[in-house]
Order: sequence, then structure tokens, then C-alpha cells
Amino acid sequence: MSRKKIVAGNWKMNTSLNEAIYLVQQISKNKNTNSEVLKIVFPPFPFITEVAKTINNSANFYTGAQNCSEFLNGAYTGEVSALMLQSVNCNYVLVGHSERRQYFNETNQQLVLKIKNALQHSINVIFCFGEKLEERKGTTHFTTVEKQLNQVLSHFTETDLHNITLAYEPIWAIGTGETASPQQAQDMHAFVRKTIANLFSTKAANNISILYGGSCNAQNAKQLFACADVDGGLIGGASLKADDFCTIINSF
Ligand code: 13P
Repeated sequence: MSRKKIVAGNWKMNTSLNEAIYLVQQISKNKNTNSEVLKIVFPPFPFITEVAKTINNSANFYTGAQNCSEFLNGAYTGEVSALMLQSVNCNYVLVGHSERRQYFNETNQQLVLKIKNALQHSINVIFCFGEKLEERKGTTHFTTVEKQLNQVLSHFTETDLHNITLAYEPIWAIGTGETASPQQAQDMHAFVRKTIANLFSTKAANNISILYGGSCNAQNAKQLFACADVDGGLIGGASLKADDFCTIINSF
């Protein structure tokens, strides 16, 4: 599997069922200016089935989940397993989003199990990581990101990596309106690729897609996507507005 261009929308805890369906209907109408761009939406759990049905066979358009359990099945009240997601035609899952790490105390050990379960059930993973503001200010952002990648991805093989996409999401830029500059994004993405080359191989590094997330919007997407090592975006707020999300998709 080679490097893909991807625009993914993480809806977080937003939308009602009707709003979710309307949003995908509007996105489906978009004529991609670049037909190779893969679109993925991550609705809240209860809407995945309907969203997947609405997307149906739209070209290069997929449904994902914002999380999955580290457990396979059983007495885990409130959890959603990878098997359940597979059974409703969910093709992707986000693992390691900073909001899950911060508000739900998810650890690297749990993230490894979540990724294992997803891959075992043929669900592609978007693995998220990124530094806090104080780490960026203290210039430890590269070592922070390297640690996040090493501690989780070292549990996987180069073949597993074919079904893993990376998403660099600097925490200081998430939902803040503050965006990494194209240079800051490119520097980090090149560093991430180098880290993957060290962990696996140059081939693996060249083949993996690395998305940028953190206040990516209709105005700045073009500049960010023009960076050599930025293969697309994981969009929060701007993915809730069909027009903005479509402008982002058409920013390649
Ligand atoms: P915003 O685009 O709202 O900053 O969110 C980014 C994000 O967390 C995507 O997962």
C-alpha cells in the first residue's frame, strides 16, 4: 500500500442523527477536484451505521469510529469493540486522540491493545499524537513525539503499518484557532517520517500517510497540504460544515 492523500473529519461529540446524515449527503455531492483524495468521516458511535449506509458506494469515501475498546468482548459496560465496528461496515478508527489521552487517561499500553484489536478486525487505524504547548515552548516537541511513536508503534510490524495512518495533532493547535505554520508542520512531519524509517525502514516511511490536525480549515488547508510531508488533514471544527470540509478536500 502506498502513500495516500486523505482528508478526515473528526466530528467529536457533535451532531444529531439527522444532522449527521445531512452532512454526509452534502459531502457526497462534492466533486473532488482530485479523485485520488480519500475522504473519511468519524461520526459519534450511534450514527456510524446510518452514515455508512448513506455513504454506500460513494467513491473513496469511508466511515470511521472515534475510539474502540482495548477489550475484545464481555462485561465492559459502555465499551464498543472492534468486532462491533467491523459488523457495521466501519473502515477506520481513531486511536490515541489527545482528548482521549487527556480526559479519559488512555495510556500507551491501552493504545497498543486498541490498535491490535482494530487490525485484527480489518479496521484501518489513524494513530494520533502531538505535543503540549509547554513542550513546544520548551523545544522538547520532537522528543515527545518520538517517544509517543516509539512506545506504541514498536509493538507492530512493517506489514501492520500498511493499515496505519499517522496524524500529527499539536495539542496547542486543537480547537484553539491557532494553527502550526506550514514550516512547523513540515518540520514535524519530516521528523515523523525519519522516526518511522528508524523504527521500520525507509520504504515504510515513504509509504505511510501523515496527516496534520489542529485548526486546519478552508483557508489554510492549501498551504499545509502543499508541504512535501503533509499527506492530508484530520479536521475537527471545520469538518462539521459541509462547504468548508469540501473546500479542504479540494485543497490538494
Ligand atoms: P480542530 O480542527 O477543531 O482544531 O480539531 C482538530 C482535531 O482534534 C481533529 O481530530
